Amino acid sequence: MKRVKLWDKEFEVSLPYADIQLAIKQMAEKMKTDLEGKETLFICILNGAFMFASELMKELELTDAEITFLKLASYIGTSSSGEVKELIGLNEVISGRTVVILEDIVDTGHTIKGVIEQLEGKGAKEVKVATLLFKPDALKVDIKLDYVGLEIPNDFIVGFGLDYDRRGRNLKDIYTLV
Ligand code: IMP
Ligand code: MG
Repeated sequence: MKRVKLWDKEFEVSLPYADIQLAIKQMAEKMKTDLEGKETLFICILNGAFMFASELMKELELTDAEITFLKLASYIGTSSSGEVKELIGLNEVISGRTVVILEDIVDTGHTIKGVIEQLEGKGAKEVKVATLLFKPDALKVDIKLDYVGLEIPNDFIVGFGLDYDRRGRNLKDIYTLV
């Protein structure tokens, strides 16, 4: 198995790019039928979701969609700090709109819950969540995930947008901490 070293830690490929691509294609098929004609506003959660959002939006090919970005930070090292900081906020009108949050991974669920509440508070008509990855064993809050690419074990991973202390986001495959 392919390995990489980031700072002090070794990681091993656990999800090759081909598997990620297939999961995104399958999500896109389902989402396209649900969202066609809804003038959806997609909200990509930075930094982690940038690769997922890019590939998903290309597969979706919606002609009435918009995409914007919300920059949050919660992880320190290999565990969630529990506190979610907003680094860049939203300027778009949310009221009355169908919005879809694009997230790289739902771990404890605190981040996504905070974003859902923020959007509901701004009067969104409908808030949906699309996450590439989901760690069911780590979930600590009550939330509904509308579209999930892949369910994964509760291990720390990097690659395809996800980082370990800022490194590894650029990697094409997903790697698990050895
Ligand atoms: P949550 O609030 O605990 O659900 O964490 C969500 C955020 O933590 C995600 O948006 C990721 O950016 C980050 N995160 C969660 N699990 C991992 C991981 O295994 N590797 C890298 N980042 C992660
Ligand atoms: Mg994230």
